[in-house]
Amino acid sequence: MSIHRFWLAGTAATGDTSLTVTHPYDGRAVGTVAVPDLSQIETAVTAAYAALTETTALPAHARAAALTHVHHRLAERREEVARTITAESGKPITGARVEVDRAASVFRWAAEETRRDSGSAQRLDTDPAATGRMALTRRVPHGAVLGISPFNFPLNLVAHKIAPALAVGAPIILKPAPATPMSALLLGELLAETELPAGAVSVLPMPNERAAPLITDPRLPVISFTGGQFGWQLQQRAPHKHVTLELGGNAAAVVLADADLDWAAQRIALFGNNQAGQVCIGVQRVIVADAVYDTFVPALVQAVAALGTGAPDDEATQVGPMIDEVAAQRVTDWIDEAVAAGATLLTGGHRDGTTVAPTVLADVPAGSRIAREEAFGPVLVVSRASGAADAFAQVNDSEYGLQAGVFTSDVATAFRAYRELEVGGVIIGDVPSFRADQMPYGGVKRSGVGKEGVRAAMDDLTYERVLVLTGLAM
Ligand code: SIN
Repeated sequence: MSIHRFWLAGTAATGDTSLTVTHPYDGRAVGTVAVPDLSQIETAVTAAYAALTETTALPAHARAAALTHVHHRLAERREEVARTITAESGKPITGARVEVDRAASVFRWAAEETRRDSGSAQRLDTDPAATGRMALTRRVPHGAVLGISPFNFPLNLVAHKIAPALAVGAPIILKPAPATPMSALLLGELLAETELPAGAVSVLPMPNERAAPLITDPRLPVISFTGGQFGWQLQQRAPHKHVTLELGGNAAAVVLADADLDWAAQRIALFGNNQAGQVCIGVQRVIVADAVYDTFVPALVQAVAALGTGAPDDEATQVGPMIDEVAAQRVTDWIDEAVAAGATLLTGGHRDGTTVAPTVLADVPAGSRIAREEAFGPVLVVSRASGAADAFAQVNDSEYGLQAGVFTSDVATAFRAYRELEVGGVIIGDVPSFRADQMPYGGVKRSGVGKEGVRAAMDDLTYERVLVLTGLAM
């Protein structure tokens, strides 16, 4: 098996060790990935720091051209990239193709935003003291970025780090999840085909411990992290940096009495189990109005039980494996714990290797980890609500707040949900898992700080710098 080289300041390189990437479904080796040594990591940081002057000075058309190139190349190599995603993450192939399309669209959006990014002009002669003065405002990067991405979207969440950084002219060092580095390396290859300055991009797979110097290095003043609650420790270790954290949650879907129940059941079944539930906005809690509970819950259980599990490269598979056996065991332990405490198991509840059967639980005692923590597995926890007020209070009774979905056909209830729910995004008529890549995305409470989504990330990676001109005749 040939070794996948990493991208060190735009050049392919090998290091002192390697990582073996295994298929989550059956544990077979699917790739060997080179890992940089400490001196190579230092080289990448030096190059990123040095490249900042050049990347910020790049004309918009040059940045947009590089981003557009990646957009086209992802589309051309769609099937190969999708198969890489499936091999390393266990994502069903149909979902992997969607992920490639999304990543291609992220690069296209970033190219478009680059062209639109003109700053603003403000007249200041509104007071006599500022007669003849005008302010121009442009956004400039805080500096070079350290991007840290998770295993669950090994291409698209890398795209969400790299594309906005390049759009604003910030060099980036990307550390992919150690379990899923190959899609990120493929992206590194496409970026190496562009005319970007050498130090603009490094893609460095490594075990998490090896990244410690990157976290504290002052030459990388921005950290953009997507992953678990470890993100908060990272923020503490880098107190003077600009840190963006996209963490998970225990997202809720609310089904009210006026909802389209069939639609809601299908969507919740699918998106509670998408990517084996390993999605930050995957549905975990399902809060159902009393009036429709007895009709809705059997329909939901039927839809969940009908989902096809199996090998992720089989076109018919809807629910594949979790990332590894430790993760699968943790989820079934949490299910067992809830059942032992009095929860009712409506379907699923068991595992075969890394595959956890899509599971629905009801009557889950308050305080059970499967309801209160982030399950990050294919499990739905159903509860009753007396009406909208009770349902929204249940949504907010969580330490997390990324997105929430509300199935209702009443516009006033939709606005009430938007006003009352303590989350970064409210999705009406669909699951909390809906995400369009260009929309602002990010949570409150323990779900994180800062926003992604192409334009929002570009704002997050930059600050406004004002230029005041004097002596103008306006
Ligand atoms: C995530 O799991 O954080 C990302 C979800 C998505 O992009 O759909």
